Amino acid sequence: MEILTGIAEVRERVAHWRRGGEQVAFVPTMGNLHSGHISLIDLARQHGQRFVASIFVNPMQFGPNEDFNHYPRTPERDAGMLEQAGCDLMFLPDVGEMYPEGAGRATRVEVPGLSEILCGAFRPGHFEGVATVVAKLFNIVQPDVAVFGEKDYQQLAVIRRMARDLCLPLRVVGAPTVREADGLAMSSRNQYLDAAERAVAPAIHAELQRAVVAAVGGRVPLEVIESEAAASLARAGFSLDYFTLRRASDLEPPAAGDRDLVVLVAARLGRARLIDNLRFSRAGSA
Ligand code: PAF
Repeated sequence: MEILTGIAEVRERVAHWRRGGEQVAFVPTMGNLHSGHISLIDLARQHGQRFVASIFVNPMQFGPNEDFNHYPRTPERDAGMLEQAGCDLMFLPDVGEMYPEGAGRATRVEVPGLSEILCGAFRPGHFEGVATVVAKLFNIVQPDVAVFGEKDYQQLAVIRRMARDLCLPLRVVGAPTVREADGLAMSSRNQYLDAAERAVAPAIHAELQRAVVAAVGGRVPLEVIESEAAASLARAGFSLDYFTLRRASDLEPPAAGDRDLVVLVAARLGRARLIDNLRFSRAGSA
């Protein structure tokens, strides 16, 4: 596996593969890789003969009081994991390479509407930062396929919309969430949890499952399902940003006939902000 830090070298390497008729699959990450990332990588490898991963902690997607400075950075360990997973190229740019004028002065990509709801309402500017860096990474790597985790459901929706709106010639693929044995979705931010918080954290997944069962049953109004889950998580010690049932296609509140739904949660526990979701289908009277 090659490790490259410069945009020009990455373009050159990928262009060489393309001239040879090879398809390129790409997984953008912020590093500190865990089994969840490896599952994205395994899926990506099914979509191309060449596989690229990027590791870049993107300052533009962090708010002023968020964990940019403390976000775990483990590039050497990540390189070992990527090599073992069969990665051909690890792109490891620094902030100056990605934002030569500084992130604050860079051109931005905005996905209106979808970026402002749910996590976007609690993290203003976050999805603009994500859409911008992902558009840049797509332009640098020029992949045929890019894979993102479904755990970040709203992020995946924003990226799909951005790729469609900008007519980017690639396919965006979602990969199923990978969970610990007790249901907690894998995330680099789980390491912010202390032992007591870690013991409580799986309640998030349990509430999502309860909400799905209730929504599929169809007898309890969705607002009641949401407020009961919120109360239960608050009793367990979470400080809730949202627990909500939405239409899976566009994250709008579901209409009576909508069947393809997703229940999403964002909640703070100690220093960690945890997000998770479950997508499901309910019988409807369409
Ligand atoms: O999900 C992430 O790790 C990041 O938001 C991404 C997509 C790599 C953009 O920085």
